[in-house]
Amino acid sequence: MALTFPDPALVLLIGPSGAGKSTFARANFRATQIVSSDALRALVSDDPDDQNASADAFRILALLLNARLKRRLTAVVDATNLRAGNRRRLRSLAARYGVPVVAVVFDLPERAFFDNNAQRPDRRVGDGVIARHVELMRVAVEDVANEGYAAVFFVRR
Ligand code: CTP
Ligand code: MG
Repeated sequence: MALTFPDPALVLLIGPSGAGKSTFARANFRATQIVSSDALRALVSDDPDDQNASADAFRILALLLNARLKRRLTAVVDATNLRAGNRRRLRSLAARYGVPVVAVVFDLPERAFFDNNAQRPDRRVGDGVIARHVELMRVAVEDVANEGYAAVFFVRR
């Protein structure tokens, strides 16, 4: 799968836990280009899954994106990005610097999210969390077409 991204770009990975977002980011981008909500939660709380660390993590995420986009450097947001309001805030950050925003939508069969999660060697989340993400994903897949991205890539299998 050879994808061509504008450079610079703000790349939003959109998908439930277990979708393969971090795997995709590592395969397609340099480590310094990837801004990961899990990594930032871990940095502030020692626990990538500590949802109480989310507010601090996302504040830092926005600071990092701002710093990179200001320099016209590509940034990849490795977070679920399942909520329209979160995506809108990220787009407006990029708009400030005229950087195009690209969405990568992990439009996989729902079972794939549960199966990937069950098989992961690293962190694993509860099935209830994935189920909630799957609900949000149904809406997100419909919404992205109308959100004005420079490009939308679909990861399917
Ligand atoms: N995986 C896979 N095939 C792919 C992509 C991912 O088998 N094409 C596996 C990975 O090896 C990993 C699991 O699926 O064990 C979850 O992938 P990951 O990239 O960690 O998913 P994320 O979307 O980053 O999940 P989270 O939101 O929880 O970070
Ligand atoms: Mg991940």
